[in-house]
Amino acid sequence: MDITDRGYQLIKQELFRHLRTDSNAYKDSYLIRRIRARMRKLGISDFMDYYRLIKKNKAELDDLLLTVAINVTEFFRDPIVWRTLESKVLPELIRFKKENHFTTIRVWSAACSTGQEPYSIAMMFSEFLGQDIKRYNLSILATDIDREALNIAIKGVYPRETVEKSVPKHLIRKYFLPMGDHYRISPQLRRYVKFQHFNLLSKEYPKGFDMIFIRNVLIYMTKEAQEEIFRRLYDSLEDHGYLILGKTETILGDASKLFKLYSLVGRV
Ligand SMILES: C[S@@+](CC[C@H](N)C(=O)[O-])C[C@H]1O[C@@H](n2cnc3c(N)ncnc32)[C@H](O)[C@@H]1O
Repeated sequence: MDITDRGYQLIKQELFRHLRTDSNAYKDSYLIRRIRARMRKLGISDFMDYYRLIKKNKAELDDLLLTVAINVTEFFRDPIVWRTLESKVLPELIRFKKENHFTTIRVWSAACSTGQEPYSIAMMFSEFLGQDIKRYNLSILATDIDREALNIAIKGVYPRETVEKSVPKHLIRKYFLPMGDHYRISPQLRRYVKFQHFNLLSKEYPKGFDMIFIRNVLIYMTKEAQEEIFRRLYDSLEDHGYLILGKTETILGDASKLFKLYSLVGRV
């Protein structure tokens, strides 16, 4: 059995010592799949051999960290989710703000990877509010455990194909600056987003959000870890707040009682 393999246990220990986080929160099936994929690439079949390699080769350990974090993401990932936000959630949120004369809008992208999600949120608000955006104090907190991913996010420079594949042309013209074979996020969009390192397994969460995006990260974690995170996210949201999950994700266990299902994607 892979789980009880001594080599696997040692790799896991080493990995989480470097991630400085609790290894029990991640599913073994997920970790084994990622580690095996890396081993296959190198033609190694024994966990202990791979453990010896990461012990003497720091670059390999870094590569493994990246493989485990898998920060795959894209602008406006799962377009149907964004259409639901634009047509239902944003109108309701802004109506609520107007009725109560509130001018602050606080959003958290809680596993932002290389930044495409928080920048998409900024574009969505900017498009929805138009000139009215000046009346609001919009701030988007974008956090991730992976510092390398955050560095890319902070630079806000992306290959041309990445941008052109998922961002409509009129938004590229408005919010990106061409830079050779790359695009840079324009300063007027960049100023709404603040990046910070944050581990979802930590106890102290930031609070007071209107919306929290937690997409495509909890799937790697155990049911217990997910429930705990959902409870903390609940406390981080304002009473009227919205929690946005990935397209195929649901809230597990007792934590589901804390939230009311607002909309299933596709039912716009
Ligand atoms: C697949 S990406 C999701 C990016 C974006 N939310 C999306 O849906 O496109 C998953 C991200 O979760 C981050 N992550 C994994 N464990 C984490 C933890 N304990 N705390 C914070 N971020 C974590 C990874 O570093 C990675 O960038």
